[in-house]
Amino acid sequence: MKAVVCTSYGSPDVLQIREIEKPEPGDKEVLIKVFATTAHFGDTRIRRADPFLVRLVYGAFTPKKDLVLGLEVSGVVESIGNAVTNFKEGDEVFAFTGFGLGGNAEYRCLPAGVGTPHRKGLVAPRPENVTHEESAAVPAGGLTALKNLQKAGIREGQRILINGASGSLGTYAIQLAKHYGAEVTAVCSTRNLDLVKSLGADKVIDYSKEEFTQTHDEYDVVYDAVMKSSASLCRGILKQRGVYLNNTRISGPEHADLLLLKDLVEQGRLKPVLDGTYSIDDIADAHRYVDSGRKRGNVALTVSA
Ligand SMILES: NC(=O)c1ccc[n+]([C@@H]2O[C@H](COP(=O)([O-])OP(=O)(O)OC[C@H]3O[C@@H](n4cnc5c(N)ncnc54)[C@H](OP(=O)(O)O)[C@@H]3O)[C@@H](O)[C@H]2O)c1
Repeated sequence: MKAVVCTSYGSPDVLQIREIEKPEPGDKEVLIKVFATTAHFGDTRIRRADPFLVRLVYGAFTPKKDLVLGLEVSGVVESIGNAVTNFKEGDEVFAFTGFGLGGNAEYRCLPAGVGTPHRKGLVAPRPENVTHEESAAVPAGGLTALKNLQKAGIREGQRILINGASGSLGTYAIQLAKHYGAEVTAVCSTRNLDLVKSLGADKVIDYSKEEFTQTHDEYDVVYDAVMKSSASLCRGILKQRGVYLNNTRISGPEHADLLLLKDLVEQGRLKPVLDGTYSIDDIADAHRYVDSGRKRGNVALTVSA
């Protein structure tokens, strides 16, 4: 099968399209034929070996043999293992591929069980009211934003400020915070003001005109989705028991979380924002764009027609 192999650590040119062996599902696994996947910030960090921890997990000097990136997929179940009862051939699914990655390929085997730890991957029926490119872009960013907001215990009537509101995490966080009934202030650049308003932001701060840590408002939650500030810098805008979030120390997502995202997409309450779709053959260009740090929402990759 065709896959994107990370042959070394470095620039996007280390990514090569190669033929590797098509996987066979184990007893408790499904084999997913991948229609769409993404070029994710997490993939680019592994490719760059940033942070250093990447080398401990994926190979110290060079990536382990046939390391395939890709944290999320959308596609169809092509076959199932003998012990699988909750999926059948032909089911349309989306999935978080876990820390074994492997989504940037024509096929990916993942555990079907609902009790599987997220690091091994999570599979669920996909929201069928959106394209495969859109549903592929939900699991990684959607789950991370959801677990952050759940960690803060976000609830109706609270005020949340989201920095980096135009990125993958930010666009999901705006919509999820609105789902929980919070009042959202979104921080972004001038060019993204309309985008964040369209996703439900009640107030906006243009960071090119105003420093959000110096506003006179106070928030129950400050979520720095792009990790450009710090808890101490945000202390002045947090209420006394306010919570600062920056994607660290969040609990692992579960199947129920992926199902919640599916339901919200189907209800039209969560819209995956795509900033372009590339063919998987153009993976290096997709990574270059993600590396720029300017993407709005997510970058999808089309694998099969
Ligand atoms: N996505 C995930 O699932 C995930 C999971 C865990 C951790 N993380 C980490 O979380 C961070 C954000 O990830 P992401 O995927 O959401 O990033 P992203 O989509 O690449 O974020 C880029 C967006 O942030 C905006 N931005 C850039 N600099 C900014 C600044 N100083 N203030 C406010 N907005 C700014 C950019 O627009 P402008 O340049 O026009 O402002 C762009 O729209 C990364 O460090 C990533 O490693 C991500």
